[in-house]
Amino acid sequence: MENRKKIEQLATWIEASDYIVFFGGAGTSTESGIPDFRSAAGLYQSEHQSPYPPEVMLSHSFFMKHPEVFYDFYRSKMLHPHAQPNGCHRLLSRLAREGKLKAVITQNIDGLHQSAGCTDVLELHGSVHRNYCMECSRFFSLQDILDIKETVPRCPDCGGVIRPDVVLYEEELDQKILMRSIQEISTADLLIIGGTSLTVHPAAGLVSYFQGSKVALLNADPTPYDHRAGLLIADRIGEVMTEVDKLIHTKL
Ligand SMILES: NC(=O)c1ccc[n+]([C@@H]2O[C@H](COP(=O)([O-])OP(=O)(O)OC[C@H]3O[C@@H](n4cnc5c(N)ncnc54)[C@H](O)[C@@H]3O)[C@@H](O)[C@H]2O)c1
Ligand SMILES: [Zn+2]
Repeated sequence: MENRKKIEQLATWIEASDYIVFFGGAGTSTESGIPDFRSAAGLYQSEHQSPYPPEVMLSHSFFMKHPEVFYDFYRSKMLHPHAQPNGCHRLLSRLAREGKLKAVITQNIDGLHQSAGCTDVLELHGSVHRNYCMECSRFFSLQDILDIKETVPRCPDCGGVIRPDVVLYEEELDQKILMRSIQEISTADLLIIGGTSLTVHPAAGLVSYFQGSKVALLNADPTPYDHRAGLLIADRIGEVMTEVDKLIHTKL
């Protein structure tokens, strides 16, 4: 099936469904200018100064041992305060307002679904928009972190190191968010998976809880779950979703 037909098929599926769940990853934000980890233009391929791979630098033990190296990488590669939502975030937000989309589950920490107007987002890996002092728990926004000029941000109240509310490697996911994600995925009648290599666990394992028959997988590169997808679109998700949006919402 060529892409145009698949896009029409996805639009038809969306129109026929009333409990859609979206499960996404870094690939949903690349068209907003935020690099993912594993594609050709991703962070694993980019020339960063550090000899450590991102998974090491973004681990709990590394953060505790080398907060300067962590923050150097984090500030330059993980913070994108000017990124804007793309066609994928916009369509999902629209479907959520219409009541068709019941949950957005994301591995992303960039907050772009919320920028597009989605209020109830299950953020499996936390968010760069929330930060807190490790000593006194005082809250800091992303802007607060950007405003602090020292590489490692410290709390003006107590001097404690401030950390982002993101789940680092070696740390556990929030059980409540995991449970809600499992519940939403197992209730869905259409599961749209987008922009994820489905290799980061336990998040990626969540898609196996889906019990329905319609899985649409929109990812540029192959994933271990491709064989389960009734609809597989290996193209740019922001552009694909913009086309789907037009088909659904601009009928005369
Ligand atoms: N934006 C962010 O918040 C961000 C960015 C980088 C990494 N991360 C973190 O890193 C981990 C990476 O796992 P992951 O599976 O989310 O990402 P990943 O980098 O492992 O995989 C991204 C996948 O998206 C695909 N892709 C890239 N651009 C695409 C596009 N425009 N359209 C369709 N597909 C596209 C790639 O082919 C790739 O398979 C996550 O746990 C996440 O927390 C987050
Ligand atoms: Zn403090």
